[in-house]
Amino acid sequence: MDISAEGKISRRSVLANGAMIAAGLAVAPLAARAQSKASQADTTRAITGRDSLKAHAAHHGLLAGTAVNARALATQPEYARVLAEQYDIVVAENAMKWGPLRPTPDTFFFTDADALMAFAAEHKMKVRGHNLCWHSQLPTWFNSTATKENAQHLLVNHITTVAGRYRGKIEAWDVVNEAVQVSDGRPDGLRNGPWMKLLGPEYIDIAFRTARQADPHALLTYNDYGVENDSDDAGKKRAAVLALMRGMKARKTPLDALGIQSHIHAGGSFGSGIRDFMASARDLGLKIFLTEMDVNSSNLTDNDIAHVDQAVAATYRDYLTTTLAEPAVAAMLTWGFTDRYTWLGGGRRGQQPSHPQRPLPFDANYQPTDAFFAIRDAFDHRQTRQA
Ligand code: XIL
Repeated sequence: MDISAEGKISRRSVLANGAMIAAGLAVAPLAARAQSKASQADTTRAITGRDSLKAHAAHHGLLAGTAVNARALATQPEYARVLAEQYDIVVAENAMKWGPLRPTPDTFFFTDADALMAFAAEHKMKVRGHNLCWHSQLPTWFNSTATKENAQHLLVNHITTVAGRYRGKIEAWDVVNEAVQVSDGRPDGLRNGPWMKLLGPEYIDIAFRTARQADPHALLTYNDYGVENDSDDAGKKRAAVLALMRGMKARKTPLDALGIQSHIHAGGSFGSGIRDFMASARDLGLKIFLTEMDVNSSNLTDNDIAHVDQAVAATYRDYLTTTLAEPAVAAMLTWGFTDRYTWLGGGRRGQQPSHPQRPLPFDANYQPTDAFFAIRDAFDHRQTRQA
């Protein structure tokens, strides 16, 4: 399933916004109907305290985490309750990106990001920072304001301000997000995005060096998607990401960790490609985070909700069995935890939605889905291969 990043983001952000507005009205009744089906996950099983995701993860040397929707956290007590109950690491779904943080070239809007930091501190959770440099979700003023002359100053000033504000409080920063795009045709596989056009490939080292100075405690992470499955495209992308990371290490650029987004599709296959990729990252001395996992079911033609849930859960199980066997993996985060707030839309590209997506461990009514139990089992069965 190769979807260009640009297409993916624009389509999904529209759908995500639509889903947010519709959340209370449309999503809940659909999910309620689905809930009445007999083959839904057994919601009578205990899932809190020692039965929570974070408790099971901790037994196997893992942090369990999720992306957080700022508006839901601020307005929905149930959202905050489940979040605190299940997870010990959080990441802002949007609030720490350039767009939301930078209303104008001279100002910063920290309210939502600060609220997440405060919630995390209150509940003794760790925080991942996402992200300091990306081609997407830049502020509207960026295109008309950034030039070859001022781009380095803009980047350094942003990273110094943002990473400096949360210095000592962030477990890991996604310093650069999605810098590889093989189809852009550069020999090094790097994306020909705005930062590349303004600063050349050096922007990556500049970002990491600036982040190290601003927050020496955070694990500095390179984060990307499309490296997970057994396809040729994923293989090419893995090779380009490894080449980038090896080059950084050779140049003594401060790089501590690899983030594998893990936006995967139901029924995908995950074998030696991702396994060898993770082992190579470990050989470079890197930690690994599974940073944004969800399972997209838009490729399924069977729209029976119970079957969708089973297929999604089976894919979680498969993928996590493979990836959690890698000893360098330190955390697993999903991209949201309730289907009420998922960035994934309903249908295949250009088609009518076939079924509402249920890609996360809790449904739109905060009931655990089959995916919840598949994730927890995968934690329980973690047996890392020897490094
Ligand atoms: C997504 C958010 O979930 C949406 O709300 C937003 O409209 C677009 O971005 N890879 C990433 C994340 O690194 O930042 C993206 O988040 C999903 C893909």
